[in-house]
Amino acid sequence: MTAPRVVLVGPMGVGKSTVGALLAQRLGCRFRDTDEDIVAEQGRTIADIFVEEGESAFRALEKQAVRRALAGHEGVLALGGGSILDEDTRALLAGQPVVYLSMDVEEAVQRTGLNAARPLLAVNPRRQWRELMDARRPLYAGVASAVVATDGRTPEEVTRAVLDAL
Ligand code: S3P
Repeated sequence: MTAPRVVLVGPMGVGKSTVGALLAQRLGCRFRDTDEDIVAEQGRTIADIFVEEGESAFRALEKQAVRRALAGHEGVLALGGGSILDEDTRALLAGQPVVYLSMDVEEAVQRTGLNAARPLLAVNPRRQWRELMDARRPLYAGVASAVVATDGRTPEEVTRAVLDAL
Protein backbone atom coordinates (compact mmCIF):
# COMPACT_ATOMS: atom_id res chain seq x y z
CA MET A 1 0.00 0.00 0.00
CA THR A 2 1.26 3.48 -0.80
CA ALA A 3 1.38 6.07 1.95
CA PRO A 4 2.62 9.67 2.11
CA ARG A 5 6.12 10.37 3.48
CA VAL A 6 4.83 13.43 5.28
CA VAL A 7 1.34 14.85 5.78
CA LEU A 8 1.12 18.56 6.60
CA VAL A 9 -1.84 19.86 8.57
CA GLY A 10 -2.54 23.30 10.03
CA PRO A 11 -4.61 26.42 9.48
CA MET A 12 -5.01 28.14 6.14
CA GLY A 13 -2.22 30.58 5.38
CA VAL A 14 0.29 28.80 7.61
CA GLY A 15 2.38 27.88 4.57
CA LYS A 16 1.48 24.23 3.95
CA SER A 17 1.77 24.64 0.16
CA THR A 18 5.01 26.61 0.19
CA VAL A 19 6.68 24.43 2.81
CA GLY A 20 5.25 21.29 1.23
CA ALA A 21 6.81 22.12 -2.14
CA LEU A 22 10.18 22.90 -0.50
CA LEU A 23 10.03 19.69 1.52
CA ALA A 24 9.26 17.63 -1.57
CA GLN A 25 12.27 19.21 -3.29
CA ARG A 26 14.55 18.31 -0.36
CA LEU A 27 13.18 14.80 -0.09
CA GLY A 28 13.22 14.23 -3.86
CA CYS A 29 9.55 13.33 -4.06
CA ARG A 30 6.31 14.84 -5.35
CA PHE A 31 4.07 17.35 -3.62
CA ARG A 32 0.29 17.08 -3.57
CA ASP A 33 -2.32 19.36 -2.07
CA THR A 34 -5.92 18.26 -1.50
CA ASP A 35 -7.29 21.77 -2.21
CA GLU A 36 -5.68 21.60 -5.66
CA ASP A 37 -7.11 18.12 -6.23
CA ILE A 38 -10.61 19.44 -5.47
CA VAL A 39 -10.23 22.49 -7.74
CA ALA A 40 -8.90 20.32 -10.59
CA GLU A 41 -11.64 17.73 -10.17
CA GLN A 42 -14.45 20.28 -9.86
CA GLY A 43 -13.18 22.79 -12.43
CA ARG A 44 -14.02 25.70 -10.11
CA THR A 45 -12.48 27.49 -7.16
CA ILE A 46 -13.02 26.54 -3.52
CA ALA A 47 -14.66 29.94 -2.94
CA ASP A 48 -17.13 29.14 -5.74
CA ILE A 49 -17.94 25.74 -4.22
CA PHE A 50 -18.64 27.41 -0.85
CA VAL A 51 -20.88 30.04 -2.46
CA GLU A 52 -22.72 27.70 -4.83
CA GLU A 53 -23.20 24.66 -2.58
CA GLY A 54 -22.24 25.63 0.96
CA GLU A 55 -19.59 24.48 3.37
CA SER A 56 -21.00 21.01 4.08
CA ALA A 57 -20.96 20.10 0.36
CA PHE A 58 -17.34 21.26 0.23
CA ARG A 59 -16.49 19.16 3.32
CA ALA A 60 -17.92 16.05 1.64
CA LEU A 61 -15.76 16.65 -1.45
CA GLU A 62 -12.78 17.30 0.80
CA LYS A 63 -13.28 14.09 2.75
CA GLN A 64 -13.18 12.06 -0.47
CA ALA A 65 -10.17 13.98 -1.78
CA VAL A 66 -8.23 13.37 1.45
CA ARG A 67 -9.11 9.68 1.49
CA ARG A 68 -7.92 9.25 -2.11
CA ALA A 69 -4.71 11.21 -1.55
CA LEU A 70 -3.82 9.31 1.64
CA ALA A 71 -4.21 6.00 -0.19
CA GLY A 72 -2.53 7.02 -3.44
CA HIS A 73 0.37 9.38 -2.84
CA GLU A 74 3.92 8.57 -1.77
CA GLY A 75 5.34 12.08 -1.45
CA VAL A 76 4.51 15.13 0.64
CA LEU A 77 0.80 15.75 1.14
CA ALA A 78 -0.82 18.97 2.38
CA LEU A 79 -4.39 18.79 3.65
CA GLY A 80 -6.87 21.68 3.55
CA GLY A 81 -7.05 23.50 6.87
CA GLY A 82 -10.50 22.19 7.78
CA SER A 83 -10.04 18.57 6.77
CA ILE A 84 -9.31 17.51 10.36
CA LEU A 85 -12.87 18.53 11.37
CA ASP A 86 -13.97 15.14 10.04
CA GLU A 87 -13.73 12.30 12.53
CA ASP A 88 -13.11 9.60 9.90
CA THR A 89 -10.31 11.67 8.41
CA ARG A 90 -8.72 12.03 11.86
CA ALA A 91 -8.90 8.26 12.30
CA LEU A 92 -7.24 7.73 8.90
CA LEU A 93 -4.34 9.91 10.00
CA ALA A 94 -3.52 7.76 13.03
CA GLY A 95 -0.08 6.23 12.66
CA GLN A 96 0.90 8.48 9.71
CA PRO A 97 3.82 10.94 9.81
CA VAL A 98 1.68 14.04 10.36
CA VAL A 99 3.31 17.42 11.01
CA TYR A 100 1.16 20.23 12.41
CA LEU A 101 2.37 23.63 11.22
CA SER A 102 1.14 26.04 13.87
CA MET A 103 0.89 29.83 14.11
CA ASP A 104 -0.64 32.19 16.62
CA VAL A 105 -3.74 34.28 15.94
CA GLU A 106 -1.92 37.59 15.36
CA GLU A 107 0.42 35.98 12.84
CA ALA A 108 -2.63 34.47 11.11
CA VAL A 109 -4.42 37.85 10.90
CA GLN A 110 -1.29 39.48 9.46
CA ARG A 111 -0.62 36.74 6.94
CA THR A 112 -4.11 36.36 5.57
CA GLY A 113 -5.74 39.75 6.20
CA LEU A 114 -9.09 40.23 4.53
CA ASN A 115 -8.90 37.58 1.85
CA ALA A 116 -11.98 37.03 -0.27
CA ALA A 117 -10.49 33.78 -1.59
CA ARG A 118 -10.77 32.36 1.94
CA PRO A 119 -14.51 32.27 2.57
CA LEU A 120 -14.21 31.47 6.28
CA LEU A 121 -12.54 34.80 7.06
CA ALA A 122 -14.62 37.23 5.09
CA VAL A 123 -16.30 39.16 7.92
CA ASN A 124 -14.16 39.76 11.02
CA PRO A 125 -10.79 38.12 10.53
CA ARG A 126 -9.42 38.53 14.08
CA ARG A 127 -12.50 37.18 15.88
CA GLN A 128 -13.02 34.45 13.30
CA TRP A 129 -9.38 33.42 13.53
CA ARG A 130 -9.58 33.24 17.34
CA GLU A 131 -12.68 31.04 17.25
CA LEU A 132 -11.30 28.88 14.48
CA MET A 133 -7.96 28.34 16.24
CA ASP A 134 -9.62 27.60 19.60
CA ALA A 135 -11.82 24.97 17.97
CA ARG A 136 -9.17 23.37 15.79
CA ARG A 137 -5.94 23.53 17.79
CA PRO A 138 -6.75 20.35 19.75
CA LEU A 139 -7.78 18.57 16.55
CA TYR A 140 -4.52 19.40 14.77
CA ALA A 141 -2.50 18.46 17.85
CA GLY A 142 -4.47 15.23 18.22
CA VAL A 143 -3.51 13.91 14.77
CA ALA A 144 0.07 15.22 14.76
CA SER A 145 3.19 13.19 15.38
CA ALA A 146 5.17 16.46 15.46
CA VAL A 147 4.37 20.17 15.84
CA VAL A 148 6.43 22.89 14.15
CA ALA A 149 5.74 26.54 15.07
CA THR A 150 5.98 28.86 12.07
CA ASP A 151 5.68 32.25 13.80
CA GLY A 152 8.37 34.64 12.57
CA ARG A 153 10.07 31.93 10.53
CA THR A 154 10.74 31.85 6.79
CA PRO A 155 9.48 28.91 4.70
CA GLU A 156 13.08 27.64 4.47
CA GLU A 157 13.46 27.71 8.26
CA VAL A 158 10.15 25.92 8.70
CA THR A 159 11.16 23.30 6.14
CA ARG A 160 14.40 22.63 8.01
CA ALA A 161 12.48 22.31 11.27
CA VAL A 162 10.07 19.82 9.68
CA LEU A 163 12.98 17.75 8.34
CA ASP A 164 14.51 17.76 11.83
CA ALA A 165 11.19 16.64 13.30
CA LEU A 166 10.72 13.70 10.95
C1 S3P B 1 -10.28 25.86 4.82
C2 S3P B 1 -8.99 25.91 4.37
C3 S3P B 1 -8.64 26.06 2.95
C4 S3P B 1 -9.75 25.53 2.05
C5 S3P B 1 -11.08 26.12 2.45
C6 S3P B 1 -11.45 25.86 3.89
C7 S3P B 1 -10.54 25.72 6.27
O1 S3P B 1 -7.45 25.34 2.67
O2 S3P B 1 -9.79 24.12 2.09
O3 S3P B 1 -11.04 27.50 2.18
O4 S3P B 1 -11.64 25.34 6.66
O5 S3P B 1 -9.59 25.96 7.06
P1 S3P B 1 -5.95 25.84 3.05
O6 S3P B 1 -5.72 25.44 4.46
O7 S3P B 1 -5.09 25.04 2.12
O8 S3P B 1 -5.89 27.29 2.80
